[in-house]
Amino acid sequence: MKVLVTGGLGYIGSHICVKMLQKGIQPIILDNLSNANPEVLNRIAKITGIKPILYKGDVRDKMILLTIFSEHKISSVIHLAGFKAVGKSVKQPIEYYDNNVNSAIMLIHSMQKMGIKSLIFSSSSAVYGVPKQVPLTEASNIGLTTNPYGTSKYIVERILTDLYIAHDEWSITLLRYFNVIGAHQSSLIGEDSQGIPNNLIPYITQVAVGRYKEVMVFGKDYPTPDGTGIRDYIHVMDLASGHIAVLENVSQKSGQYIYNLGTGKGISVLEMIAAFEKASGKHIQYKIVNSRSGDIAECWSSPTKAYAELGWKAQYSVQDMVNHSWQWQSQNPNGYQSL
Ligand code: WQD
Repeated sequence: MKVLVTGGLGYIGSHICVKMLQKGIQPIILDNLSNANPEVLNRIAKITGIKPILYKGDVRDKMILLTIFSEHKISSVIHLAGFKAVGKSVKQPIEYYDNNVNSAIMLIHSMQKMGIKSLIFSSSSAVYGVPKQVPLTEASNIGLTTNPYGTSKYIVERILTDLYIAHDEWSITLLRYFNVIGAHQSSLIGEDSQGIPNNLIPYITQVAVGRYKEVMVFGKDYPTPDGTGIRDYIHVMDLASGHIAVLENVSQKSGQYIYNLGTGKGISVLEMIAAFEKASGKHIQYKIVNSRSGDIAECWSSPTKAYAELGWKAQYSVQDMVNHSWQWQSQNPNGYQSL
């Protein structure tokens, strides 16, 4: 089975490709390297013994899509390519809509032209906006998004829903990722954020390796047990196995499938810092600062639907996640950049 993975050299994409290769599924990677390092290809080869085929290019380039679809018999497409920094999306909305929405439209056009009708879309818990209640199920309200990143994901979900209404022979899966962290246990691949990390875990790991002095904790007056924000963190390898479960169970069956990929557990910022201190054996200094605009108090999932329909559930604990994050960062202090 050959699967096109757009954004396949990125943090999440590279872990999915490793899992696919280990399951005998061949990833064909399309990546414009805007947020990925070509060294990842060598690392995937080191882990699996196979170097995947890479097409360097942008999903909005119809020609490269048609080339790939004419050179390979693609059974399904996993569409990961996209920008994902919430804060940046507020400052650069048009770039986010152009990259995240137009790429999806171009991809769908090209798939239709080549008769490929199986798509797995990397969506996000961000489509739920400010949750009315937690845990979030797939039936929870969506669309009241609080930033262009979340809105771009919501728009693509709507496009794919309308596509399925018009063409119900397609297999369309929307995977709503919660907070993805961790790294492959080999420490050969992991999250290599460019510039100052937007997200909590890469920031903590860079404090732990001494790049930054302390973690800024965005607010300690939320209505939560310790006052800091609560999120549903999921190991990137659990997320990868969620994609395998979709490929194996529903990607060849017409229908629209929607799943939360989370653990169903909420962890606070301070709990995460404590778990990291345990993983690294280091003191992680932090400072309470004002809450970040657009942030919400609590966001965590009910992942029972994925278990009921796909037999998938997260296996790794929070301590596993931070242990693997720490091992990756401490063995690769400069990420994929050569020393
Ligand atoms: C987590 C918690 C912050 C940084 C993002 C995006 C998107 C999505 C999920 C895929 C919050 C607090 C953070 C810091 C802090 N991914 N924090 N200091 O905002 O929950 O969601 O990940 O779709 O990328 O929506 O993730 O890691 O930024 O924040 O105190 O330096 O950590 O307030 O409570 P977020 P995050």
